[in-house]
Amino acid sequence: MSVVNSYNLKVPKGIICYYSGSGNTRLACQYIQNKVQSVKFDLFNIARSGVPDLDGYAVAGFATFTDFWGPPHLMQSFIEKLSPQNGKPAFVFNTYGAVNGKTLLMLGKWASAAGFKLVAGHTLHTPESYPPMVAGGHGNEDHPDQKELKKFQEFVSGLDRTLGLIKEGKEIKVAKLNIGLLNSLLFAFPRTQSRKDMGLKYVDDSCDECGICEKICPYGAVKLNPKPVFDMHKCYGCWSCYNHCPKKAIYTRKFRGVGHYPKPNDLLKEKLKA
Ligand SMILES: Cc1cc2nc3c(=O)[nH]c(=O)nc-3n(C[C@H](O)[C@H](O)[C@H](O)COP(=O)(O)O)c2cc1C
Ligand code: SF4
Ligand code: SF4
Repeated sequence: MSVVNSYNLKVPKGIICYYSGSGNTRLACQYIQNKVQSVKFDLFNIARSGVPDLDGYAVAGFATFTDFWGPPHLMQSFIEKLSPQNGKPAFVFNTYGAVNGKTLLMLGKWASAAGFKLVAGHTLHTPESYPPMVAGGHGNEDHPDQKELKKFQEFVSGLDRTLGLIKEGKEIKVAKLNIGLLNSLLFAFPRTQSRKDMGLKYVDDSCDECGICEKICPYGAVKLNPKPVFDMHKCYGCWSCYNHCPKKAIYTRKFRGVGHYPKPNDLLKEKLKA
């Protein structure tokens, strides 16, 4: 499927499937969506919207945050549910707060296993959303720095040029993902590590039973009864309920009322203004 722009040229359609706990990744995806002209991208929130039909899309993107040096479990289960592809071009992208680890490589591996042809990939250093890090004074609020931002902008321009080949009917080459020496020496933790580290969750009396935590949990692990009850078998320790509770009523054994990062900070919003 394609859309016709005002010059009456056919612009291929693309879809960026993203998972963003606190909005950094979503903001970066909006930047990509607005800057790339050779493809008209739809944004698809995998935490809300089920599984899309990819038939109408000439290219796909998979974007997420880093979760214990790898992509979150939600992204893996999402990609596994997609219908098998036969070489559809795809790019991968992730944000991270401190150490990226194997996130990009794992995303690329999962997309390739689903039959996508990997044509580009990039990681962007952003503020930290992991409350234990923020509470410990490691919020990295001013990332990306100038150099990192420039690299991201160059990635987006390069992606635009690469995807321009689709309209020209030319073949796009498979990309080799480069994550740097340090990251290549690291191993992603098991996808359940964050659940283990977060541990049990509790709710204090300030909870007004608004239901935001139930709605926001991407793993269906919260049920209101009438206050939230957490199913530890379903929880993946993403901290979304903690970050987004307007009353800061949710707490863990180690963290209470500190380190919340519910949405991108103003510095990041300014830098990623498209
Ligand atoms: C549960 C959890 C685990 C995280 N693990 C890492 C990590 O291993 N390395 C890292 O650099 N950042 C880590 N972060 C930070 C996020 O990857 C980073 O802040 C990202 O930009 C958040 O994106 P989002 O706002 O789209 O969710 C983690 C954040 C959360 C919530
Ligand atoms: S988001 Fe907070 S205030 Fe709302 S129901 Fe959940 S714990 Fe209670
Ligand atoms: S219960 Fe909270 S920490 Fe666990 S998966 Fe749901 S939102 Fe994330």
